[in-house]
Amino acid sequence: MRAHEAGALHGDIGSRPPWLRPPGDVNALVPQLWPRNVTRAADGALAVAGLDVRDLAAEYGTPVYVLDEDDLRSRCRDFRAAFPDADVYYAGKAFLCRAVVRMIAEEGLFLDVCTGGELATALSAGMPPERLGFHGNNKSVAELSRALDAGVGRIILDSFTEIDRLTALARERGVRPRVLIRVTVGVEAHTHEFIATAHEDQKFGFSLAGGAAAAAAFKVIDEDVLELRGLHSHIGSQIFDASGFEVSARRVLGLQAQIRDARGVELPELDLGGGFGIAYTTQDDPAAPHDLAKRLRKIVDGECAAEKLAVPHLSIEPGRAIVGPAVFTLYEVGTVKDVDGIRTYVSVDGGMSDNIRTALYDASYSATVANRASTAEPLLARVVGKHCESGDIVVKDEFLPADVQPGDLVAVPGTGAYCRSMASNYNHVPRPPVVAVRDGRARLIVRRETEDDLLALDVG
Ligand SMILES: Cc1ncc(COP(=O)(O)O)c(C=O)c1O
Repeated sequence: MRAHEAGALHGDIGSRPPWLRPPGDVNALVPQLWPRNVTRAADGALAVAGLDVRDLAAEYGTPVYVLDEDDLRSRCRDFRAAFPDADVYYAGKAFLCRAVVRMIAEEGLFLDVCTGGELATALSAGMPPERLGFHGNNKSVAELSRALDAGVGRIILDSFTEIDRLTALARERGVRPRVLIRVTVGVEAHTHEFIATAHEDQKFGFSLAGGAAAAAAFKVIDEDVLELRGLHSHIGSQIFDASGFEVSARRVLGLQAQIRDARGVELPELDLGGGFGIAYTTQDDPAAPHDLAKRLRKIVDGECAAEKLAVPHLSIEPGRAIVGPAVFTLYEVGTVKDVDGIRTYVSVDGGMSDNIRTALYDASYSATVANRASTAEPLLARVVGKHCESGDIVVKDEFLPADVQPGDLVAVPGTGAYCRSMASNYNHVPRPPVVAVRDGRARLIVRRETEDDLLALDVG
């Protein structure tokens, strides 16, 4: 399916990706796709940390995002262990609520926010402000003021307007905030590919090739109101190939050397951003944090040696890789429709309002029938939502058992990142709750929206 501004184009009639083959066992769970504590119990239903998904559906309704808390915590610990002398910032844009702020804080992570709303959530959950980083290409005066008043640990500068804005606010308050400069390094990395270009046609950061990044660094150093701690680069998302980081580290450390040569200042920090890939389908094979860390460390050490720079204190900003695999969405099937032998459409009780990624990015997901095991043959299915869009697709292609039927539960793994956080009320569908499960106990951490919530905003 290709995107079109007026909706989906269905140029893929009856096709499926070549890698998707009928599974030997349609009930099998592919381990890399599921939170670590998800199993298929002896009676065939999925269980998470000992809880039967049928009980979760009965108690919390569907759709529901189910968070395996120990899985999320263990991913935090994996990153911390892999990067012991770096700061690991969880990128809150992937999914943020107070319970998750507390979890990542307890696991020793820092936190990136990029709006006043994310900042408010972090502060209200008790995140120490000095452990916060504040991103964004258009932070308002109100947002910057709030960040300064709260004592946010670092602000990542994104434009000359913002440098002036923050400088004025810092002068007014007599404070000296710590800042990084976001550098657009001309590397675009998505999934298995990256492109290193000379120009940087995007809204984020200061262009390296055009000289804006160096000019921004000189301005901050020369004005001496803000404390320039280092440079920042973030090259993309769902990255599996470390070679994009190699090019970006080389370029950004080249700038670091230029700043040293021009101003005699060696910046003590370097942030390499996030974007580390996760498995959405059997085709994705993400690197373990440990291997990633080894690659990044080698790249940075090598480039620093080449530039005769001291190795800066590193930070990284994983979002998806922390929360993405820790969550699955549980839906109930409402209708099953065989379309002229082309494919079977399995409609669930959510859709693009709880997962926009398929429509927005042409993202691929996987799915399984969750309330039972089946002895039926695998059937090529498309899991679709209940919205008034033909592009309202949750899982484009998946083999489900041929006896999938209304009332079945379908679970879609890998929905922790950029699903609830991008959820909408399209068609006035209330957004689903998030339930955290740990040690056989479930707790609601974000409640379901109600029709009253929707109507409460409608004051006309
Ligand atoms: C600056 C920055 N850091 C970190 C991230 C997190 O990326 P991911 O969730 O893919 O790790 C993003 C995502 O857009 C970002 O823009």
